[in-house]
Amino acid sequence: MERRRFIRQGLHACAALAAIPALASLEGCASAKGLTATVADGAVRIPAAELADKRFVTVNAKGHPDPLLVVKEADGSYRAVVLNCPHKGGPVSEKGGELVCGWHDSRFTLDGKVTEGPSKKDLRTYPVEQEGDQLRIALG
Ligand code: FES
Repeated sequence: MERRRFIRQGLHACAALAAIPALASLEGCASAKGLTATVADGAVRIPAAELADKRFVTVNAKGHPDPLLVVKEADGSYRAVVLNCPHKGGPVSEKGGELVCGWHDSRFTLDGKVTEGPSKKDLRTYPVEQEGDQLRIALG
């Protein structure tokens, strides 16, 4: 019995060690689900080229609690939408051209306007300005 316990604990330790490289590469995986950026001077900056041929891109910004969806409007302007539901804080993601809360299914337009409850409030948005080849998302 002691030997089995020793072997089982050894297997768990090996599995934990094997997971470390996988954890280290998670940031790389996150890039498949969106861009990574960092909050600096109260803003997040991403390359404008990321939206050259897309309507929107998800940005995971270190220093900001929630992912952002940066949307290119029909008039060429940009807007950042916070992917956190105002109902009870559930995660919001893009599905089929609209934003949907994963907890209670509130629905929003891509620019954050609520279309179906239970949320009664729109998603929070931030202004986005183009500065040269960068898009600056002003937080605050
Ligand atoms: S937390 Fe989003 S609908 Fe409830």
